[in-house]
Amino acid sequence: MIISFEGIDGSGKSTQAQRLMARLSRLEKEIMYVREPGGTVVSERIRDLLLDPGLTIFPFAEMLLFSAARAQLVQEKIKPFHARGGIVVCDRFFDSTVAYQGGGRAVADTDWLEEFQRTVTAGVWPDKTVLVDVTVDVASQRLASRFGDHQTADRMEQAGPEFFERVRSTYLRLAEQDPTRYLVVDGSQSEDAVEAQIWDDFSTLL
Ligand code: ADP
Ligand code: TYD
Repeated sequence: MIISFEGIDGSGKSTQAQRLMARLSRLEKEIMYVREPGGTVVSERIRDLLLDPGLTIFPFAEMLLFSAARAQLVQEKIKPFHARGGIVVCDRFFDSTVAYQGGGRAVADTDWLEEFQRTVTAGVWPDKTVLVDVTVDVASQRLASRFGDHQTADRMEQAGPEFFERVRSTYLRLAEQDPTRYLVVDGSQSEDAVEAQIWDDFSTLL
């Protein structure tokens, strides 16, 4: 089984992916956590390029780099683990490319991008995708308090609020188009409330 977490930067999706991992670790199941971009030596190097605020990367090249990091992660880690019956928790997967590069950067039509991702992932597809939805205001407040802890914005986080509005509305449209795969949760609730809602849905799936 594959479950992916999606949302704009600062939505709280990594917090929830970790909370789901903690719950799953109490079950007698093989589980693996991966974050995108990254998760393999090659993909982490591509991540460094993608997030480097000192680099100018053209939108189509950016889309291909995110896809390259994903293709490597799928072949090296996700596919073999999934084939053994393990549960994979993905902190972002291909919907990020459709929402950020398709919706945010407008590099290509979102339907075309989704079709292209079928090739990138060799057909590996999530059983469930949790969209942790918050407004751009809430997300930027959360990121601002994180930056207060001496973190600076990476290359993607430097995009303006209009960019994140487009990303968010693309996610919401994707979720509307595929209500069976997507679970949309209101991420402005407390961490516990969001976790409980995700677990409710997930235990039905299990
Ligand atoms: P993302 O992975 O979507 O960028 P994180 O999970 O890293 O987001 O969370 C961003 C920040 O918001 C962190 O400082 C985290 O502690 C905080 N946070 C996460 N979920 C909530 C929540 N439900 N309510 C308030 N703050 C939250
Ligand atoms: P990261 O620090 O992992 O952010 P987050 O904690 O929000 O996931 O940085 C990943 C950044 O890359 C984030 O801004 C989202 C962006 N991204 C894309 O634009 N396209 C993609 O396909 C993926 C996987 C991520």
